[in-house]
Amino acid sequence: MNEDLELDNIEGVGPVTKQKLGEAGIHSIMDLLVRGPMSVSDVTGLDVDRATSICNKARTKLVELGQLQKDFVTATEIYKKRQSIERISTGTTSIDDLLDGGIETQAITEIYGEYGTGKTQICHTLCVMVQSPKDKGGLEGGAIYVDTEGTFRPERLHRIAEAKGFDPDEILENVVVAKAYNSAHQELIMEDLGRIIDKTGAKLLIVDSAVAHYRAEFLGRGTLAGRQQRLNKFMHLLLRTAETYNLAAIATNQIQASPDTYFGDPSRPTGGHVVAHTSTYRIYLKRSGKNRIARMVDSPYHAEREVVFRLADTGVEDVEETSKKSKSSIDKT
Ligand SMILES: Nc1ncnc2c1ncn2[C@@H]1O[C@H](COP(=O)(O)OP(=O)(O)OP(=O)(O)O)[C@@H](O)[C@H]1O
Ligand SMILES: [Mg+2]
Repeated sequence: MNEDLELDNIEGVGPVTKQKLGEAGIHSIMDLLVRGPMSVSDVTGLDVDRATSICNKARTKLVELGQLQKDFVTATEIYKKRQSIERISTGTTSIDDLLDGGIETQAITEIYGEYGTGKTQICHTLCVMVQSPKDKGGLEGGAIYVDTEGTFRPERLHRIAEAKGFDPDEILENVVVAKAYNSAHQELIMEDLGRIIDKTGAKLLIVDSAVAHYRAEFLGRGTLAGRQQRLNKFMHLLLRTAETYNLAAIATNQIQASPDTYFGDPSRPTGGHVVAHTSTYRIYLKRSGKNRIARMVDSPYHAEREVVFRLADTGVEDVEETSKKSKSSIDKT
């Protein structure tokens, strides 16, 4: 770990506090920021004022180090900063266009849709794309895949990597997979990610699916408030991780049929307002014959529009690319 990020650099953190924090899995200034004062107080037993003061100092330190934006900045400064924001190409021109270049770092992109619409396939493709050189749309970084549904398949990564001309073994080596067995485990994994991100230089963090465990564990109307509270905690942890470590976060989400909708599309993502409000960008996937449609929904700056893509053995693809390919194979015959 970078020495500047050691907990000792914070005034007021002595050996005893450092040990308490360490025992709770907080090893760096970044970890403090990801957890936030309430959680730090909860897990260490420090009183809330003390935890708040330590977290505020951690924040100031990161601003000094230039890793975090200061509290008051002009729109020009933000504009300049956003010009240099990093993006990961999805491997398709159509979805990249929809996203103005690709999946953004320091943000959560939620991908939601019915079963089989390509959420998991996009995640697998991104695990390969993030490792590409920067001039090919990647960030030359690794990926972390939190698999809650048991649908992560290394074979798919292998195939997609091969098709894109990468060494598949190298690609697989740079993807760290964590299988989450329940929602509490999913939250624990998230809290422990700091060191893994440091070690792997990951630029992409995928949670596929972000809501499945919450949906399965909290059944019935009476548990709704509890579920939303826990999901809220999880989504904020995810957002702070993306912002603090400058990586792109992807949260997938299923569709829930809502029979009370008579107009428009009768399906809504699970997780209601919590997931919707915490996600920075939301992409809705749906079937269109053999192809798929991706629609940008509720973005703070993208137009609401749709593009067509398709799922292939080689990952997600442009539809034109496919028709070009089949045309050229017709030409050859
Ligand atoms: N090797 C492959 N070659 C071509 N298409 C494939 C391949 N593997 C998967 N697919 C396509 O991907 C679809 C499954 O997509 P995916 O697993 O991404 O769905 P999902 O949106 O994650 O669904 P769920 O909500 O069930 O998790 C399959 O129905 C198929 O169309
Ligand atoms: Mg899936």
